[in-house]
Amino acid sequence: MKKIVVVGSINMDLVTICNRVPEGGETLFGEEFFQVPGGKGANQAVAIGKLGTDVTMLGKVGKDSFGKDLIEAMKKSGVKTEYIKEGEKATGIAKIIVEKNGQNRILVVAGANSEVDREYIDEHLDVIRDCDVLVAQLEIPIETVAYALEKAKEFGKMTILNPAPARELSEDIIRNSDLIIPNESELALMTGMKTDTHEEIKEAGEKLLNLGVKDLIVTLGSKGSLHLNREVCEFHSAYKVKAVDTTAAGDSFIGGLVRELKGNNLSEAIEFATKVSAIAVTKKGAQTSIPTIEEVENFKGVKNEEK
Ligand code: RIB
Repeated sequence: MKKIVVVGSINMDLVTICNRVPEGGETLFGEEFFQVPGGKGANQAVAIGKLGTDVTMLGKVGKDSFGKDLIEAMKKSGVKTEYIKEGEKATGIAKIIVEKNGQNRILVVAGANSEVDREYIDEHLDVIRDCDVLVAQLEIPIETVAYALEKAKEFGKMTILNPAPARELSEDIIRNSDLIIPNESELALMTGMKTDTHEEIKEAGEKLLNLGVKDLIVTLGSKGSLHLNREVCEFHSAYKVKAVDTTAAGDSFIGGLVRELKGNNLSEAIEFATKVSAIAVTKKGAQTSIPTIEEVENFKGVKNEEK
């Protein structure tokens, strides 16, 4: 079985559900509050683990109860957690507001995630050397992401980057990523180009392909995703579902994709990933919404016509 390493963030999500978000200076009552395990890195590792693939998490938590609970949650989902270290700062948290239509707003305080540094990567080079695929996001310091990708490429591994939260990237990071999975706005920020139509996404994508990325999958929310490489420009429509909470939809997509990766043809993996994220948006929370392999296999959805 292939081995995956996820290098990234581990957060406790503090979630409030409300009818609408307050304006500046306004106080409103929310409908519901809950605390669930999250963090883009941990969510992606949990998705891969829940779907039955070998996955190891590299990252840091604080010396606090959030940290312990988050490690426990990952373990229960089948993630190998033995290399997660305790940092000096508190465990990362994300304040999340979800409106009734499922749309979310997220504010992250990185805490111990900001202490995932080059030294930590150096201490775990054997773990990277031993994997087949390295997956990273941008909720740990960007220099660390660049270094982890560089090392993974040096060891001949496949590298996947989810450039979220959005920020500009150096050419090195782009060159050392075999597959980049942004949404439209992340792609716009990375390339400085417009990404409102498939044509514009294609043009922006070509900029990244010219820098050495082999494949690009641009996720388009409820519309689906667009896969681009030198030969292919393929649209995959999403399923029609009632979105309750879109938190971790992208993370679930990545988990599903990584689980199904076989050879060079990404089409089947994207179709599987589309199912995984369709199920995730129908449930509340980040890791709590990620389906098991049985749920994905039993999923009978209808595709959206919208492009
Ligand atoms: O992608 C969703 C995640 O983003 C949340 O779980 C939150 O922790 C933030 O990192």
